[in-house]
Amino acid sequence: MRRIKTISAVILLVSLILVFFYSSLHLESAYGHQAGLEDVLRQHSLEVHDSDVKIQPPTQEASTTPQPKLNATISNNLRKAIPQNGAYWNRLLYSALRSVENAENHIRGNSSWSGCRETSQELLQTNIQDFTTYPVLFQTFLQGMKCKSPPVLIDQPSCNNTFLLLAIKSTPEHFEQRQAVRETWGREGMYPGGLRVRLVFLLGSSPPEDPDFTPLVALEAKHYGDMLQWDFRESLFNLTLKMNVLLQWAPKSCHHASFIFSGDDDVFVNTPALLRYLQSLGASKASRLYVGHVISSASPHRDPKNKYFIPLSFYDGPYPAYAGGGGFVFSGDLLQPLHSVLRLVPFFPIDDVYIAMCFKALGVSPEAHAGFKTFDVQEQDRENLCVHKDHLLIHRRSPQQMKKLWKGIHSPFLTC
Ligand SMILES: *[C@@H]1O[C@H](CO)[C@@H](O)[C@H](O)[C@H]1NC(C)=O
Ligand SMILES: *[C@@H]1O[C@H](CO)[C@@H](O)[C@H](O)[C@H]1NC(C)=O
Ligand SMILES: *[C@@H]1O[C@H](CO)[C@@H](O)[C@H](O)[C@H]1NC(C)=O
Repeated sequence: MRRIKTISAVILLVSLILVFFYSSLHLESAYGHQAGLEDVLRQHSLEVHDSDVKIQPPTQEASTTPQPKLNATISNNLRKAIPQNGAYWNRLLYSALRSVENAENHIRGNSSWSGCRETSQELLQTNIQDFTTYPVLFQTFLQGMKCKSPPVLIDQPSCNNTFLLLAIKSTPEHFEQRQAVRETWGREGMYPGGLRVRLVFLLGSSPPEDPDFTPLVALEAKHYGDMLQWDFRESLFNLTLKMNVLLQWAPKSCHHASFIFSGDDDVFVNTPALLRYLQSLGASKASRLYVGHVISSASPHRDPKNKYFIPLSFYDGPYPAYAGGGGFVFSGDLLQPLHSVLRLVPFFPIDDVYIAMCFKALGVSPEAHAGFKTFDVQEQDRENLCVHKDHLLIHRRSPQQMKKLWKGIHSPFLTC
């Protein structure tokens, strides 16, 4: 009897030890997973581990700047929106998603600005059979896909108490457009209801073959304090990089902004109407907003002559619904989560599609608003003040038209 008791006690003790041991193991692997996930997102070269994407042999441990913790979960909507197949970008994305899931170890790529460019033609050809048939600019884009942190040339003090940040894509030579925006819909300051508006222009640098506007831009930045400039070449396929640097800058310098407007310097925005709309939103909608002119069920252009040509071997699938890049608005609350997924979603050459993919990763879909006219209004309404007063955004207007329209919609004599 005593023996049985002793045996039971021993069995109980052993089981307890085992349970304890197992749970501590479990805990450890849970932490391990966590660390792996952050590790994955800390790197720019997510794709490198995977056998279906060939990589260059690692040089050394790349310098990694500390990144904030992942504070976003990757939504399943991204998988639903983007097919898994053999196209390069699709493979990169799924490879990155798998890394996050499996918390695998990675060979680190060189993410420094000087070392990020993929210069090996063979490597790109191994991954993309018809790489050499791609347009030159597209090839250039592919070589720089991992280059995400260009040097800052001009920075500005942060924006406090900002309700709406207007982040306007401009280029160095667009002095006139910027001035028109400043004098009209982009005017900084306090609007009715105590809503503060802050304006920043986002610039790259002029290509070497262009006149050098550096001293003028520096003067302008000093005078107005509303310019951000990075050292990368202005080009269509670098707009994604521009979006990316905005999303790196804003969470640290403007993280209290309630809303961010991202748009071009040739749009007309009815800022008071936009503010009224944003202020009218309920709290839950205001915290996950991504609104604009929504383009749904679009697919890549496959004609190499098209400005937005995307080769099939690069991306295969439809585009997720996206808000036209001429101008859209999103919640400041999404800045941190977006910042996290920036390192997961590979660069896509079309910036508004790219940002939509990032939103998709967060499970946020664009909301259509009829007030955003990124493809302009009907021909006969293009001078119509009442039409402009009724809308939130109209693309595109010259600096002169902008001033005329702005004055017009604010005229006390205007009857609509
Ligand atoms: C990254 O590349 C740059 C330029 O090629 C080089 O100077 C740097 O040492 C590299 N960093 C690492 C960690 O390999
Ligand atoms: C922003 O905050 C700083 C420090 O708190 C203050 O000096 C500055 O005046 C503020 N700027 C605005 C525009 O409120
Ligand atoms: C983007 O900018 C980088 C840095 O200036 C440049 O090397 C690259 O060629 C640009 N990409 C395109 C597609 O123009």
